[in-house]
Formats: sequence, C-alpha cells, structure tokens
Amino acid sequence: MNTNKIKSKINSEIDNYYKVKNSNQKLSNTKITLSEPIFDNLEAKHVINCFLNGNLSQGKLVKDFENKFSKEMNCKYGIATNSGSSANLIALDALKQIYKIKNGSEVIIPASTFATVAMPIIQLGLKPVYVDIDVETLNLNIDQLKKAININTKIIMPVHTLGMPANMIEITKIAKNNKLLVFEDCCEAHGAAINQKKVGSFGKISAFSFFVAHNMTTIEGGMILTNDKAINDKCRSLREFGRIPQKLINKDSRYYSDKFLKDYDKRYVFTEVGYNMRMTEVHAGLGLIQLKKLNKFNSIRVKNASFLSNLINKNLADFFLTTKKEKNYTNTYYTFPLILKKNIKKSRRQICEFLENNKIQTRPMMGGCLPDQPAFRGQPGRIVGSLKNSRYIRDNCFFIGIHPMVTKKALINFVKLLKTFLR
Ligand SMILES: Cc1ncc(COP(=O)(O)O)c(C=O)c1O
Repeated sequence: MNTNKIKSKINSEIDNYYKVKNSNQKLSNTKITLSEPIFDNLEAKHVINCFLNGNLSQGKLVKDFENKFSKEMNCKYGIATNSGSSANLIALDALKQIYKIKNGSEVIIPASTFATVAMPIIQLGLKPVYVDIDVETLNLNIDQLKKAININTKIIMPVHTLGMPANMIEITKIAKNNKLLVFEDCCEAHGAAINQKKVGSFGKISAFSFFVAHNMTTIEGGMILTNDKAINDKCRSLREFGRIPQKLINKDSRYYSDKFLKDYDKRYVFTEVGYNMRMTEVHAGLGLIQLKKLNKFNSIRVKNASFLSNLINKNLADFFLTTKKEKNYTNTYYTFPLILKKNIKKSRRQICEFLENNKIQTRPMMGGCLPDQPAFRGQPGRIVGSLKNSRYIRDNCFFIGIHPMVTKKALINFVKLLKTFLR
C-alpha cells in the first residue's frame, strides 16, 4: 500500500471515529463545565494531515486565517499570534513605537479584568490606570473613565468583558475629544457587536484570544486587528524577531546591504527589537475551521444565556444580580456571571463549593480587581476613585459555563439546586 492510500484510510477512520462518538454522545442534564472545545472530524483530520504532510510552521494557512478572521470582524489587517497575551503585548509595543509614546505614559484599563491586560502595559514601561466598572455590564464606567484622563494619558484600552461590548460609542467619542488612541481587548468577545458593527473594529487596534476555553479556539492562539498599514507592518515585524518586513524579503533581490552588512540574506536582517510570537499552521487551520462555526456557537450561547437569565430573575432574584444587555448590542457570552446581592446569608465560597460538589464548575471574575492582586502591588499604576464596584465584583461574583454543550435541563437543575441551597 502506498502512503497516499494509508493517508486516505487514516482520514476515513477519523470520520468513522467521530460518527460513532457523535451518535453515542449524550449531553449531561446535570453537569456544567466551564468550557469545552467543540472539535469534530474536521479539526482532527486537519491536525493529523499537518503532520503527515509536513505542513507545520507559519505559512499559507496562517495568512488565510488572518485574512478571513479580519474580514469577519470588519477589519483590513490581521496578524496571528501564539496567544491573546502576546497579541496585547505586540499591539501595545507597536502603538508605543509608532506614536512615540514615552515611558511612564498612562493606559486606561478597567480595574476588573484579566491579568494580561495590565501586564504588557507594565512590561513596556507604561503605567496602567485602573478605572472602575459598572456592575450591570462589568465594563468600564464612562464617568470614571472621563475622570481618569490627564496630560499623561495616551491610550484607552477597554475590554469587552465576557463577550459584552464596552460602550464603544462613548469611548471613541471621549478618545477623539482628548486625542487618545483606543486599543480594544476583544479576547473574550469574538463576534460581539454594537449596531451590527463588530467589536475590534472601533479602535486603532484590537486583540483576540483563541485559548481553548473561548467562543472559538485554536487551543492557544491570538490575533491583532487593525485598519492601519503602518501598525500592521510594525506588528508583523515584532511578531517575528524584529525581522526586516516580509514584503522586502520577497522583493527584487534576496540580499541586503548597508554600512556594515554586505549582500546579507534578508531573512536574517533584524530591524527591530522583536519577539517570536508566531502561530503555527496546525493552529491556524483549527482557526479556519472554528471560524466557520463561530456564528452557530454564538447563537447557542445567546439562547442559553437568555434562558438562564430568565430562570434566575424568576427564581433567584433575591440572591443574584445578572448583567444587563444593552439595546442594539450583540453579546456573545463567553461565560455567565452571577453577582451575589448584599446581605445574603451564604458566602461566595460556600455557594461555589456547593456547586462544584454538584459537578458545576465555577470561577471568580478573572483577576477580581487587578491592583489588589499580588503581582500588581508595588508596580507602576494609578487607581481612580474607590474602585467600589470592581472590589464588589472581586468579592461577590462568580461565573459558570454557558457554551453550546450546556443543556437547558442542566441549567434548570442548576437553578433548582441553588434555590434549595439558599432558602
Ligand atoms: C480580557 C483578556 N485579555 C487577554 C487574555 C489573554 O489571552 P490568552 O489566554 O490567549 O493569552 C485573556 C484570557 O482569556 C482575557 O480574558
């Protein structure tokens, strides 16, 4: 048998495997996991064929994924990376260099979010400014944002928390009036939109994560989006060791010369102090397959979230607040947050332990209130106001999974369990 025949046998066995797996699959009516990557025969065949065909490091599939993802999110350029954290670091570095932002300049972020929103700011010698959030949306509070701006402010970095868009209409207005750059962190918000305009397309630059728990996944991975050619070129070079721009490598001659280097192979000419944060063909191919499924996945998340919201508001309104959906917003619900009301008798820890014992996974709201985390104490940073809401969320919020593998019956069971436990 030749290798092509064996390959096609392997591929048809993968198809068979998933046929059997899917026909035997029963979704749980009780268990709720935080997240589940939804892979089938297409993803599995892609990964195996990458190995069989030796199609491995950054190439055509990465380019294709960049083009298709950026188009889907209404942006001109996409730069794929190995994680959302890397995307944040490269994007900020690119803004810092292109706009000649001095060390110590300030970047405004929501206080309640994930750690690698603030970390790249500090890593690049800039200063995070922690601004409070609204409890109903878990996003930047606009009044506090206005109060935070001073002469050192250079960038506003809103986060679209758990797939709920931040108020980009106001944020872009404020940025324009104060001549500030907007960098959207969309790591939790693939496909979320305001008036049908996708998040990630409002600011100068944006970043996404494709970590395995997210609405679409490449296992690990990220993407920077922008409409600005200079930013695109800078990000591409930073992503690859600070190498001379790709377009110059391909152009005319293979060789580069200057005062010191003579007829030097352009592939080894470094013009920036960069990183290596590239995506592989294996991951990009997963992204292309998952991108086609994103809208379907998101619409199930939306249905699940609205079903659970109604159940909670009917049965557990004395105990929990749920987040509010703004009119004209498309929320894509990365997870479902529950906020404990004041004066309830059980603590978050007791509630979460009870749920975990009943096979319902829970997590607190990411970093809670970032400046209170050990890593940020003593680091550069400025706190605006009392951060009362961020601290309330730090102590009183947890989330559960709301992904397409969560059934309505499991959500009904979840509410019933909580009702009995809390009464
Ligand atoms: C808001 C936010 N920014 C950045 C990241 C980092 O993404 P990654 O885990 O892909 O590095 C995450 C992680 O989920 C996140 O939630």
